[in-house]
Amino acid sequence: MSAPSMTLFHNPASPYVRKVMVLLHETAQLDRVALQHSQLSPVSPDAALNQDNPLGKIPALRLADGNVLYDSRVILDYLDQQHVGNPLIPREGPARWRRLTLAALADGIMDASVMIRYEVALRAPEKHWDQWLDAQRDKIRRALTVLEAEAIAELTSHFDVAAISVACALGYLDLRHSDLDWREANPQLAAWYFEVSQRASMLATMPKV
Ligand code: BEZ
Repeated sequence: MSAPSMTLFHNPASPYVRKVMVLLHETAQLDRVALQHSQLSPVSPDAALNQDNPLGKIPALRLADGNVLYDSRVILDYLDQQHVGNPLIPREGPARWRRLTLAALADGIMDASVMIRYEVALRAPEKHWDQWLDAQRDKIRRALTVLEAEAIAELTSHFDVAAISVACALGYLDLRHSDLDWREANPQLAAWYFEVSQRASMLATMPKV
């Protein structure tokens, strides 16, 4: 086995990083990437990461030639073009836009979930902006309702960019927002998630509390 040629700024709790890790597992590219742990929050940046990504966000992927890719969507697209198996992001046609739109919906769930996490975990309780927190939770609920009503068959059909993104978003809800009890209102999504959670890629990347 040759030495990894790329470096991924990584934190196991990040759902965005998890998407990249799941794709690396699914496409048998894990050995091409070294992981560099990044401990960060919006108010405690990672200086090494800032050198490579001025936005100070993970994941960022340093390539062999020194170029750095971010954000997770760009990294997924890049890595999906580096293997010989079936693409996990359709290259063209209506399927491409549909699967990327589902992935964007999942990313929106992650965005709202991570912002809630920062507000609740980093700010003093008396400073919490409750109206804003409720609006973020509503965003998550609306997105889950659409997935439950419209996307179960599509998610079941392929474990691709859409399914990986939704699975990682749900995994993050379990990690940080179990109080939302998302399974209660979304039983089909819960059943789908139970199945995909058994995949080796999902088991290997399961974040720990
Ligand atoms: C978390 O601990 O919830 C977290 C860590 C890194 C990125 C996003 C979230």
